[in-house]
Amino acid sequence: VSTEAHRYAAIAEAISDLIRGGSLQAGDALPSVRSAALQHRVSKGTIVSAYSTLEARGLIEARPQSGFYVRGRLNAGLAVPRSEIKYPKVVRLDQQTQVRDALGDLCGTHATSLGSSFPDPSLYPLDVLGRALVANVRSTEAALAGTDLQLGLPQLRRAIAQRYLELGYVVPVEEIVVTCGGTEAISLSLQAVAQKGDFVLIDSPTFFSGIQLIKQLDLNVIEMPTDPQEGLNIGLLDQTLSTHRVAACLLMTNCHNPLGFSMKEERKQALVEVLCRHDVPLIENDVNSELHFGPRHIRAAKAFDENGMVLHCGSFTKSLAPGFKIGWVAAGRYVSRIVNRKFATTLGTSIPPQTAIAHYLKNHSYDRHLRSLRRELQTRVNEMSQSVARNFPAGTRITTPQGGYVIWIELPPGTDSMALFEMAVSRHIGIAPGPIFSPLGSYRNFIRLNCSHNWSSKLEETIKWLGSAVSEIAAAAPAESRI
Ligand SMILES: Cc1ncc(COP(=O)(O)O)c(C=O)c1O
Repeated sequence: VSTEAHRYAAIAEAISDLIRGGSLQAGDALPSVRSAALQHRVSKGTIVSAYSTLEARGLIEARPQSGFYVRGRLNAGLAVPRSEIKYPKVVRLDQQTQVRDALGDLCGTHATSLGSSFPDPSLYPLDVLGRALVANVRSTEAALAGTDLQLGLPQLRRAIAQRYLELGYVVPVEEIVVTCGGTEAISLSLQAVAQKGDFVLIDSPTFFSGIQLIKQLDLNVIEMPTDPQEGLNIGLLDQTLSTHRVAACLLMTNCHNPLGFSMKEERKQALVEVLCRHDVPLIENDVNSELHFGPRHIRAAKAFDENGMVLHCGSFTKSLAPGFKIGWVAAGRYVSRIVNRKFATTLGTSIPPQTAIAHYLKNHSYDRHLRSLRRELQTRVNEMSQSVARNFPAGTRITTPQGGYVIWIELPPGTDSMALFEMAVSRHIGIAPGPIFSPLGSYRNFIRLNCSHNWSSKLEETIKWLGSAVSEIAAAAPAESRI
C-alpha cells in the first residue's frame, strides 16, 4: 500500500474517531480541503480522498458551494420504517398451516444474493484461520484427551470468558458451552427452558430461523411490537407477562436482525429486571454484537444478569469465521440442562474449528480485524442505503442500522414483497421478503437486503432493477391496499 493511501486512510480514521466520539457533531463543518491540506501537510488530493472515504461511509456529506459537513442519522434521506405489529399477538404455531419457508431460495446460489443472512466471506481472515486449522488438526487427539466434549474445548471456553471481560462484564467459564453455531445455542436454550405447547415471547420482525426453531419444538409464540430504533417496549412487556404465561423470551438486543438497532444499556437493564420479577428466562440472541458501529464495545443484557436468568447465545459466524459454525451459550443457571441436551443430541462440537478459533484469538488481534470489518460493513451498508434512496419509488422507508450488514425496507403501501421475491428469483437475484420475519406472515410490503457485498456497478444495476420492479408492483396494487 502506498504512503499516500496510508495518509488518506489515517486522516479519514482520525476524523471518523472525532465524529464517533462526539467531538464533531451532526451539522458541524469540516475544514476546507485547502486548509486541511495545509494543516496535515499533505496534498489537496489526499484530503479529497479522505473526505470521499468518509462520504462513502455515510459520516459526512458535501453541500454544493459550501463544503463538507458531518451528517446526522439521516437514513439516506428516507424516513424510518413503521412497526406493523401494534399490540402483542398470541400465535399458536400448531394451528398454523405453515411458517413461511423461503430459506432455500434466499441462501441459494443466486448471482446476487441480497437475501442471504450471511456476510461476504471475503471480509474474514480465512487464510489465517485455514493455516491454524491445518497446524492444529494434528493435536486433535491431545485436545480430545483433555476435553469434556459436551462443554467444548477448554482453551476456547477460556478465550470466550476472556472476551466477556474485555467487553466489560464477567461471565464465568463454567457457564459457557460451545455449540454448533448460534443456531444450536438458541435451539438448546429453548429446549432447556420450554416444553411442548409453551409460549415463547419474540420480537417482531424477528430472524426467521428463530421462528423455525420454535415451531420445530412444538412451541407457540407471542409476537411483540418492536420499535425499529429502540427495540422492545419494556412497559408493554411487563404488562404482557402479567397477563400471559410465558416460558421464555427470545430476543435480539444488539445489531438486531433485521431492524439494526442496539438497545440502550438502561433498557437492557430494565428488561432483565422485568424478566427477573416475572421469573422468565431470557434467551438473548447476540450473534451480531461484535458488529456494532459505535466507538465503544457494547454489552448485552447478560451484563445485568445477577440471577443466572439470561442464556446468552453468541457465534463466531459473523465476527470471525463464517462457515466454521462455532457458537456458544453462556447459560447461567441452566448450564447443566444445556449440557444434558447437548450430550443427548450431538455429544459435542467439532474440535478442529474450535482449536483454530482459539489459536486465532490467542495469537492474532481480533480487535484489529473487527475494527476493519465494522468499518467496511458500515461503508457498504451506507452505499446500498444511498442506492435504495436513489432508485426506489417515493414512499420507501429504510432503517439506519447501528451495526451488522442488513437493512430493513418498508416499500410503498400495497407493494407485495412476495411478488417482488418471485420476480427477483427469475432474474437470479435473492432478496428476503418481509413475511418470513413473522410467524403469521406480516410485513407484506417489507424486504431485508444484505449489504455486505463490495459495492459495484453490477450492484447498482441490481438495486436499480429492484427499484423499478417495486414501482411496477406498487402501481399495480389495488387502490384500497395503497393506503
Ligand atoms: C440473527 C441470527 N441469529 C442466529 C444466526 C445463526 O448463526 P450461526 O450461523 O452461528 O448458527 C444467524 C445467522 O445468520 C443470524 O443472522
